[in-house]
Amino acid sequence: MNSYVPFLDLVTPHINEEEEFLNVCREVLHTGRFIGGPMVEEFERSFAAYCDAKYCVGVGSGTDALRFALIAAGILPKDIVVTVPNTFIATTEAISQAGACPMFIDIDQETGNMDPKRLQEYLDAQCTVDPKSGGTVHRRTGRRVAGVIPVHLYGQTADMDAIRNIAGRHHLIVIEDACQAHGAEYYSKRDGRWSKAGSMGAAAAFSFYPGKNLGACGEAGAVTTNDEAIAGTVRMLRDHGQARKYIHAMEGYNGRLDAIQAGFLQIKLRRLHGWNEQRRRHAGRYGRLLENIDGITTPFEPDWSRGVYHLYVIRARQRDELQRYLLDRNIVTGLHYPIPLHLQEAYADFGFSPGDFPAAEASSREILSLPMFPGLTEEQQDLVVDAIRSFPMVRRAGAMGALSAERLAKQAVVQGAAGVSPRSAGWSGKGI
Ligand SMILES: Cc1ncc(COP(=O)(O)O)c(C=O)c1O
Repeated sequence: MNSYVPFLDLVTPHINEEEEFLNVCREVLHTGRFIGGPMVEEFERSFAAYCDAKYCVGVGSGTDALRFALIAAGILPKDIVVTVPNTFIATTEAISQAGACPMFIDIDQETGNMDPKRLQEYLDAQCTVDPKSGGTVHRRTGRRVAGVIPVHLYGQTADMDAIRNIAGRHHLIVIEDACQAHGAEYYSKRDGRWSKAGSMGAAAAFSFYPGKNLGACGEAGAVTTNDEAIAGTVRMLRDHGQARKYIHAMEGYNGRLDAIQAGFLQIKLRRLHGWNEQRRRHAGRYGRLLENIDGITTPFEPDWSRGVYHLYVIRARQRDELQRYLLDRNIVTGLHYPIPLHLQEAYADFGFSPGDFPAAEASSREILSLPMFPGLTEEQQDLVVDAIRSFPMVRRAGAMGALSAERLAKQAVVQGAAGVSPRSAGWSGKGI
């Protein structure tokens, strides 16, 4: 048996449907409709329906989608937009590129997603109501706190009821970063039903980067929204601000979706539900097989979540050693993400330091993404699990420099009791 276990498989799904993909290429070559056109429109209709959203606008990438969604939803230059530090940098790049300023709040340790309690704390401790507008302003800088981006990390939605309730009270625009969450669902008690990622904010951004659950064969992305005006503005933003050729209502960008990519995505969208079900089955099996291993924690799925496991991310006390051990056994894993954004050089000017967001920092030290893709076989999963089980885990907590689960839990209790952690109280001078 081949003992190599890849992190993901981008070849088999395409080879399986090769003829259909070639037909898309032929159609585009024979019609010359390379950008926009009927293939793009058909995919936009299908993906909007898939997400239970009224509108979908195809764009060039997930980063375009985030930037356009922010601008179209009303984020203005100098506004503050709150998000989490444990995301791909595209989330905060889009905020900055929209002219606004990213601000971080810590994550929930169990889910790894935005902690609504930290959002409320930030708003209470550092912001106030603007008497003129009734909106929220950051006390120290006077800047408008205008938006929040919950990131549905690894394919599991953030706690959207709690976030939307807080956002509603503080007049924040909610933009979902659904770039990893095609098809993920959230049970909203508020709405009394399951809702799809991409249908719960003012707008949402999706990436169709090849490795995503729904991936193109190149760069692509989309904005979904129930708001006609936002959809209209995104359509203009992706096409140099024009609604009609050479009539520019505003400056925009070159951020359109290629017809070939839309055609490929339309084919793959038909398989997405089945692929997501396969991922959920693999996650369930990993969860059962990796239960009760000292030093290993499997992902937590709250009862309000139906995740689509874009990534299957465990936490390991000796993460770096375990990753090397697995690689020595031909098992490829990933780190999503090894350095939280507030400690990246790109944001050095914000002045954050280690300890500012303890849950995100602990997570960055312990996370390990295991092989996960629809075609992962039981044999491959067994190789991964057997290798993890055979790893000689050091018993002493924290021995390899990572925080133990117990220490993490204690830290959280201390912060919870204080309401605002000493670090985050001192953090008021940091950020912008
Ligand atoms: C959470 C998150 N946001 C945004 C993006 C940006 O998407 P793209 O690479 O398509 O621009 C990604 C892509 O990896 C992502 O994972």
